[in-house]
Amino acid sequence: MIKVQIPATSANIGAGFDSLGLAVSMYNYVNLEEQDSIEIVALDGVPIPTDESNLVYQCVKYIYDLCDKPLKGIRIEQINNIPMARGLGSSSACIVGGLVGANAMLGNPLRTSDLVNIAATMEGHPDNSTPALLGGLVTAVLENGKVYYVKQEIAEDLRFVTIIPDFELKTKFAREALPKEIPHKDGVFNLSRAALMSVSLYSRNYQNLRIAADDRLHQPYRLSLINGAHDVLEMSYKHGAYASYISGAGSTLMSIISSGNFEFEGIVREYLQENGLDGWKVNVLSIDNEGTRIIP
Ligand code: HSE
Repeated sequence: MIKVQIPATSANIGAGFDSLGLAVSMYNYVNLEEQDSIEIVALDGVPIPTDESNLVYQCVKYIYDLCDKPLKGIRIEQINNIPMARGLGSSSACIVGGLVGANAMLGNPLRTSDLVNIAATMEGHPDNSTPALLGGLVTAVLENGKVYYVKQEIAEDLRFVTIIPDFELKTKFAREALPKEIPHKDGVFNLSRAALMSVSLYSRNYQNLRIAADDRLHQPYRLSLINGAHDVLEMSYKHGAYASYISGAGSTLMSIISSGNFEFEGIVREYLQENGLDGWKVNVLSIDNEGTRIIP
């Protein structure tokens, strides 16, 4: 049986809409084995489609078709620790798990760069799927089916605190909230900050992150879709967050903090409790610089 471990991801990182993303230490698992029939199970009881509409299955089938290999049947086992529709790359994890697992079952006929291109094309944007595959911080552009990217490993002295609301926010819906056009000055506002975020994270100039996480392309339009988000972000800055932003299309809010900020988690939990947001979940994660891997 082939076992694949795939990290969660946090896309956009503020101003880098559809272009920046990083991988964190929360994982989905996909186990694959060829057999005579299609059998799809969730080992953790999380509800998933168990027929051919299952995203992992579709990706496995895609790779087999691409490589001209017949797929008679398959057993797929999934463990979904990454919550769905919360802006942490759950669909990318399914796509990447299926693609990498199928490629491994066939003896790796496709290169990682092929899988990067296929995954981003399936997702429609490269900012979750690319860091899910490669790990670290990824700056990426998807152009005509090809991803032009740089992956950078990030220092281990940061923690990524996911503040996860108790409600889903589908990416499609969160994208519909965005304007069709923006003023030129907002374009400049964002491109300067996206560049600053990428290089500051890499070079450990963490004092730049707060300015770099500001954005005019998506967060102003999405904040109102996440009840309580504005105040949570404000609270996070009062307690030492380097940067806080809507992770991917939401609903999760992400705070980047120093690994030495031991009080932050407790303060956030207390805040959520006191403000009637007790259903929200908090995780303190690290960067995952390795990306998707086959495990024993
Ligand atoms: N960048 C996407 C968005 C989500 O904000 O809609 C991740 O692919």
